[in-house]
Amino acid sequence: MMWMLLDWFLGFVQVALVIIYLYLTWYHGYWRKRGLVTAQPLTLLGSYPGLFGGGSSFIEDLSKIYDKYKGKHRAVGVFLTREPQLLLLDAELAHEVLVKNFNDFRDSLTSSYVSSTEDYDIYVARNPFFSKGEQWKKRRTEGGAGLTPNKLKQAYAIWEQTSNMLLDYMDRALKEREDQIIESRDLCYRYTAQAMGDFIWGIDAGTLSGRVNELSQFQQVSMDWVSTAFQNLPRFNSTAVAPILRKLLSLRFFSQASNTFYLRLTSDAVKLRQSGSNLAERHDYLSHLLQLQERGASLNDLVGHALTVLMDGFETSAAVLFHLLYTAKQQEKLRAEILAADKNISYEQLAALPYLDQCVYESLRLTSVIGFLLKICTRPTKIDLGNGRSLSLEPGTSVAIPAYQYHHDEAYFESAHEFKPERFDITSSSEFTKRGCLLAFGDGPRICLGMRVGLLNVKMALLRILSEYKIEQTKKLEYSADSGFGRYLNGDIDLKYTKLNK
Ligand code: HEM
Repeated sequence: MMWMLLDWFLGFVQVALVIIYLYLTWYHGYWRKRGLVTAQPLTLLGSYPGLFGGGSSFIEDLSKIYDKYKGKHRAVGVFLTREPQLLLLDAELAHEVLVKNFNDFRDSLTSSYVSSTEDYDIYVARNPFFSKGEQWKKRRTEGGAGLTPNKLKQAYAIWEQTSNMLLDYMDRALKEREDQIIESRDLCYRYTAQAMGDFIWGIDAGTLSGRVNELSQFQQVSMDWVSTAFQNLPRFNSTAVAPILRKLLSLRFFSQASNTFYLRLTSDAVKLRQSGSNLAERHDYLSHLLQLQERGASLNDLVGHALTVLMDGFETSAAVLFHLLYTAKQQEKLRAEILAADKNISYEQLAALPYLDQCVYESLRLTSVIGFLLKICTRPTKIDLGNGRSLSLEPGTSVAIPAYQYHHDEAYFESAHEFKPERFDITSSSEFTKRGCLLAFGDGPRICLGMRVGLLNVKMALLRILSEYKIEQTKKLEYSADSGFGRYLNGDIDLKYTKLNK
């Protein structure tokens, strides 16, 4: 009897293994049947083993395939777990997907992640990056209207004041350290948290005004909030293997605790502003949110818009800034431009400082805090594979655009691994973007919604810090990537700041 049971059990295991194997590999012939090369190596779990703890990151997995096939094919077939995905190896094709043929690729892959969880992940579901179709258009239009150059010009005093506070904080921090070192990852988060708290909610986030190294509640919650959201991205990517798992595991990007915190913050800020305080005439994102409310937006809609701006206004902007400070290359040339500029530099003048702009774009190219874009085909279309061949794409197929790899490809950028802002003297950054090979902010109708806020955050801090301090690295740091968006500096960014004799 026991042997019979064991036989049954083994038979059952074998059948289960065959079913799992068939399930995982069901589409492996998908690209071959359509006449497209399938990129190798391909594991049972798809083309990105790093998603399942294979010891590599998404960007590294992409690099292996990109380096093997680029120049030979315009695109190759890959698999996001078991799902067929098209990897674009030619930047011109990326431009077609993002700009020219945008109507065939209207959604981002992240839009499909949240649709299964939007009843409880209510604020991330309101972020355009995670929205699709008409909802995306509505949210983008509503949220973006508060971030136009004119609106930022009106709110510019916030950045002037925040940068004064940044210098004051640095001054106090340096008085406590004989070695003149400030851990600059923390410094950048303090600065962006302060700027965004003021811009979005009209609050003093207490990150630069408090004691040195003291963590305010706003900073603590915001750090936990972004790190949870970013850690969950690879979980959503890996559950493409069986999307039902997202519902079963109640996967979400934002925690309930952070939702409660930001709901309260927004509700209090709205009440305070409506109570007719002397800030009623202030021009900031909160004043834009109040206008949306008058046109019918709910409190949850306002929190959603506020968190869309906070997400990258706080996290991504700080990451761009600490990479720039760490590299601090060509700082003498940059400082000369900055010191020659008007002391009371205006919004337009700051945006137009040519070398500052080139340095920021060059750093974005090299570090790529968002290293790849994942789009979805939304109506039947064709991709030109070259040599008179084309590939029919079905709606629902995802498309990977390896921005990090384009940014580091000698075919597009001479001396691609060197920091050379002057390259944009010859060919402007916008011209490289038109060619599809510089996607620091994406491109087309889904180009970064907060590009101007991001640039303002970064440029203002750089301008103020470099006009007061010389920056030196104290130790070499490694870069590493996880299965999230980009590649980041590892460890404490201990930089030495020496006051300039002016
Ligand atoms: C310097 C800092 C920033 C960088 C490097 C950056 C980069 C990017 C990139 C590469 C994309 C395209 C993603 C894709 O197509 O898959 C994007 C999209 C987006 N960014 Fe930013 N971003 C920054 C700052 C901001 C800020 C401050 C906001 C605040 C509003 C923001 C909001 C968004 C949104 C909502 C999208 C999605 C747009 C859509 O799908 O319609 N970003 N960003």
